[in-house]
Amino acid sequence: MSEIDVKLLEIRQDFPVLNRLVYGKPLVYLDNAATTQKPKCVISAISDYYLNYNSNIHRGVHRLSQEATDEYEKSRKFIKEFINANTASEIIFTRGTTEGINLVAHSFVRPRLKEGDEILITHMEHHSNIVPWQIVCEETGAQLRVVPINDAGELIFEEYEKMLTDKVKFVSVVYVSNSLGTINPIEEIIKKAHSKGIPVLVDAAQSIQHIKIDVRKLGCDFLVFSGHKIYGPTGIGVLYGKQIYLEKMSPYQGGGDMIKSVSFERTIYNDLPYKFEAGTPNIEGAIGLGKAIEYVSQIGFDFIIEHETQLLKYAQDKLSEIDGLKIIGNAARKASVVSFVLDNVHPHDVGTMLDVDGIAVRTGHHCTEPIMRRFEVPATTRASFAFYNTKQEIDVLAQSIQKVIKMFS
Ligand code: ALA
Repeated sequence: MSEIDVKLLEIRQDFPVLNRLVYGKPLVYLDNAATTQKPKCVISAISDYYLNYNSNIHRGVHRLSQEATDEYEKSRKFIKEFINANTASEIIFTRGTTEGINLVAHSFVRPRLKEGDEILITHMEHHSNIVPWQIVCEETGAQLRVVPINDAGELIFEEYEKMLTDKVKFVSVVYVSNSLGTINPIEEIIKKAHSKGIPVLVDAAQSIQHIKIDVRKLGCDFLVFSGHKIYGPTGIGVLYGKQIYLEKMSPYQGGGDMIKSVSFERTIYNDLPYKFEAGTPNIEGAIGLGKAIEYVSQIGFDFIIEHETQLLKYAQDKLSEIDGLKIIGNAARKASVVSFVLDNVHPHDVGTMLDVDGIAVRTGHHCTEPIMRRFEVPATTRASFAFYNTKQEIDVLAQSIQKVIKMFS
């Protein structure tokens, strides 16, 4: 057994669900871009909270509340270290990527827009990085402009440069495309925008689990991600924002914990990061996410990148050999996603038949309808990988696809 195989065997023991059977067959979980499985340590951290110190945070002088507050804030510090933010105050807990983008659209961008201004996104955005900007544009009379992509699914950088005019007030861009797997040249994108004084939000929902992210090195103004895509729980996510911006922004929601004092005449808002965390937050989610990040840090990005790069190459080579299969998204730089279509078989039928073999993939438009239109397909079948996947699982996928083709021919 190779060193990687030994390590994989160990890692897979951390994820109990990977050992289950589906219709009597071993589960082959290749829907990691939709959500990742959770290691035992994350599940234990959440149950430990409920079993031993369940209570509200920032509100009680009693012991349980102090313990819950400590764990919640410890998670924030882990995340601060993980993405190398300047201070823990720049880490805002949200419900996920979607809420992070909506928060920035509402509290940072909208007040700075006037009729005729522009917001720049790309053709490969998830709906959550399109619709919030459409809403803001409707409300202000600003325009949403979309940087085109080429046939490989890569951003056309020269077009981006051309579109970056004085009218542009904000750039919001995905780091890794969830349906194509394209890795965007994010540092160059940010650098270009900054050379014109334009702030940038990075949608890191599909990159935080695959690529080591250092917000200070990237220089991004905002960055958002979801906990459940990085082996943590659902319903929790992170908005990173530069302190100078977050301080100037109005709250997104009003309520408990985001205030210092309230009277009917005047409310004084709390300091960062609490100003943006109104109401009782997802305490167990934050604790679980902190544990997930600790776990991923222990696995280490050296292993994650090396293994996932090999898996992606193996999958692309293997699937490319199949007659009648076309990969959608052939960027030179990709991460952990293979989207494909089969001649004469609808992706939903592909997904249903793969499921019978215990294989979980996502089929549909992947919340990226504009990409489907760009490639003139109604939908794709998407296999997406995590560091616990194996080459053997990709073999099972390839064999099952062959069966589908045979059945429909
Ligand atoms: N955005 C998630 C996906 O790509 C749900 O599947």
